[in-house]
Amino acid sequence: MARLLKLKVQGLRSVGHKTKDSLEIPFVHPLTIINGSIGTGKTTIIESLNSIATGAWPCGNLQNFIRYPETGKPTIEVSISLEFEDLNGCVCTSTKRMVATLMKGKLRCKSETLSLKIRMPNGQERKVSKKLLKVQREIIEHMGAPAVILDHVNFCHQDEHFWPLGEELKVVLDQVFQSSNFTRAIEKMEEAKQCFDQDLALLTEKQRKAESQLGTKTELQGDPESLQKFVNAEKAYKIICNECHIMNESAKNLQKYTKTLASSLIAIHSEKMAEINEIIDDLWRKVSKGLYIDSIRIGSKCVKTSSGDKSYSYSVLMTRGSIETEMRGNESSPSLGEKSLACLVIRIALAAVFGGARPIIALDEPTRDMDKTRSKLVAAMLNDLIVSRGVQVIIVTNDDRLLKKLVVANRPDFTFVLEKDQRGLSSIRSQLLDR
Ligand SMILES: Nc1ncnc2c1ncn2[C@@H]1O[C@H](COP(=O)(O)OP(=O)(O)OP(=O)(O)O)[C@@H](O)[C@H]1O
Ligand SMILES: [Mg+2]
Repeated sequence: MARLLKLKVQGLRSVGHKTKDSLEIPFVHPLTIINGSIGTGKTTIIESLNSIATGAWPCGNLQNFIRYPETGKPTIEVSISLEFEDLNGCVCTSTKRMVATLMKGKLRCKSETLSLKIRMPNGQERKVSKKLLKVQREIIEHMGAPAVILDHVNFCHQDEHFWPLGEELKVVLDQVFQSSNFTRAIEKMEEAKQCFDQDLALLTEKQRKAESQLGTKTELQGDPESLQKFVNAEKAYKIICNECHIMNESAKNLQKYTKTLASSLIAIHSEKMAEINEIIDDLWRKVSKGLYIDSIRIGSKCVKTSSGDKSYSYSVLMTRGSIETEMRGNESSPSLGEKSLACLVIRIALAAVFGGARPIIALDEPTRDMDKTRSKLVAAMLNDLIVSRGVQVIIVTNDDRLLKKLVVANRPDFTFVLEKDQRGLSSIRSQLLDR
């Protein structure tokens, strides 16, 4: 995936409208720690990353995320700008701007623009500012992960953190595996094969008729007219035989390709699911010391839908001793903290598998529902992740125990402190760490 370099936000929630009040975060690699107490703008940072990467404005409702204009200023500008380095070493700057105006007490969007500037390693620059959707598609390409992964895995919203335990699990996995597209392609190929078979049956019938019309050449000696007819019929017969042969071969090939595609799809799917589950298992062992649940995994089953299509169903399964049950729907057990931990582990595993060589994970208060012991275990797991998998971690939290352990292991030069000033606006400062 890309490597995040710098984020600049203006006019969102507690971030002021003026340039001088904008929030600017130069990311530290591999670990950016942002320490902020309640309501200082931690989630706004993650929402901004999500928004610039996927195109969606947070919460989908202007009133919920745009900072209301100060009195006497009915028109305001909101912007998010992200600088990142893609896998080819190009430095990309994507900027999203919206001009909003206050009308009858409600904010309305006047204009929205999205641009992408790409600076190649040789210094050349290219600007992309076509239609919004096209620019967004290009941003996603340079980010290096499918939109659904950027949204649910890399830059997941704090309030949507439990998605792996809901219907979203299927939505996300179906999209990354593009199962429905492949299944449709296989169905189309099967339909084409049936058409081939019907055409072949007609041709075979034609061939049989043509064959029966052929007499024997010797009987026709001395009858030039009949002989000519025979030669013509023989030619036509040969052409039909040839067509029959081609069609037969094509049908066989199509059947072979269909089978290969279907079995490749199953193989890729089970290979990736095994990879995801192996990471989940490994991470869970690191963080679950003393917990009721021994292991977790994502179970997948290929099922036939009511319309006869093939589809995968998914669920998070937990094992205690030799008993495996679904985690979802289990009201009393596991606890909220255990569910939260399971979701965190699943997200990290998906980030590692679908993030390619340089995965990213932005975590918004990952230890919110956890106690002191668990915080420390999560910190150890993240430290390990940074070292062993080269993950870029961005963490916003106010959990001191988590911070302390991350700092001790990674020894970053500085962390960030997110605060609110007397005007109620978010501000960020770097805090040098004692050596
Ligand atoms: N439309 C808005 N205009 C102005 N301020 C807003 C708006 N929406 C939310 N806020 C405020 O912006 C601040 C930052 O919100 P945000 O959710 O990013 O904080 P947070 O640090 O994640 O909080 P928490 O610790 O509760 O998770 C909060 O004080 C919130 O009340
Ligand atoms: Mg928050």
